Amino acid sequence: MARKLKIIYFVEPTPAALASRAAQYFVEMAEEAVIARGRARIAISGGSTPKAAFHLMGDAHQPWRARMPWDQLELYWVDERCVPPDDQESNFRMTREALLDHAPLRPEQIHRMEGELDPEVAAARYESGLRNGFRLEGAEAPRFDLVQLGMGPDGHTASLFPHTEALNEMMRLTVPNHVPQMNAWRMTLTWPVINNALSVFFLIGGADKAGVLKEVLTGARDTERLPSQLIWPSSGILTLILDKSAASQLPATDEDGCGFLEREG
Ligand code: 6PG
Repeated sequence: MARKLKIIYFVEPTPAALASRAAQYFVEMAEEAVIARGRARIAISGGSTPKAAFHLMGDAHQPWRARMPWDQLELYWVDERCVPPDDQESNFRMTREALLDHAPLRPEQIHRMEGELDPEVAAARYESGLRNGFRLEGAEAPRFDLVQLGMGPDGHTASLFPHTEALNEMMRLTVPNHVPQMNAWRMTLTWPVINNALSVFFLIGGADKAGVLKEVLTGARDTERLPSQLIWPSSGILTLILDKSAASQLPATDEDGCGFLEREG
């Protein structure tokens, strides 16, 4: 892990502006990946915040659908609820309705976590898919071009919830995770895989995240209680795209709406 973490946050005035900035960021990072490496392997999160951005990316009346290098995109998930893909709770269902049904992706470009299977089986199958897709050898971790994360009001990210088993997993790529506080099973990329990505960004909106976001970024390190603090990209850079409400307890941004923080590892 890089000793010093440079944190860059972009603050948008409204949820709509947040979604638009996120869609732009997804497209720009995908374009950059394709120019540099011929393809864009992106892992996305679920929840409500990214939904509006996914809608914009799939909307033919918006600039993003035409700009996205869909042919060179490989879409993965950061985590999934252990439910069938048509369940209201499914991250895949949310993404299918908001984006996949409107985007020109071939089935083989969509790497779904099989929430309908036994959690251990689904995690093992997904890990095997990562090993094949990234042609991994031995203990190698996949290096995503971009990982998009959200954060819950409890400081969780992906399906790395406070005081759960998955926080301690450093060898496997994908694990099932029982979340007692929700009485639910999830599956998730492990934090070393997320940190190995070339770029990692949080997409966070809403006043209910403001306090915990301040703690995560500026408070004492307490990863059991604040799992989002586990996200420390090996690049030494962490990007956040926030709305004004979520950023309300962070240091003020510059005139361009950019803020900067640093953490020592
Ligand atoms: C999930 C997500 C999860 C999400 C946060 C924030 O499966 O729900 O991967 O980590 O990013 O819970 O969710 P909201 O965007 O809905 O606040």
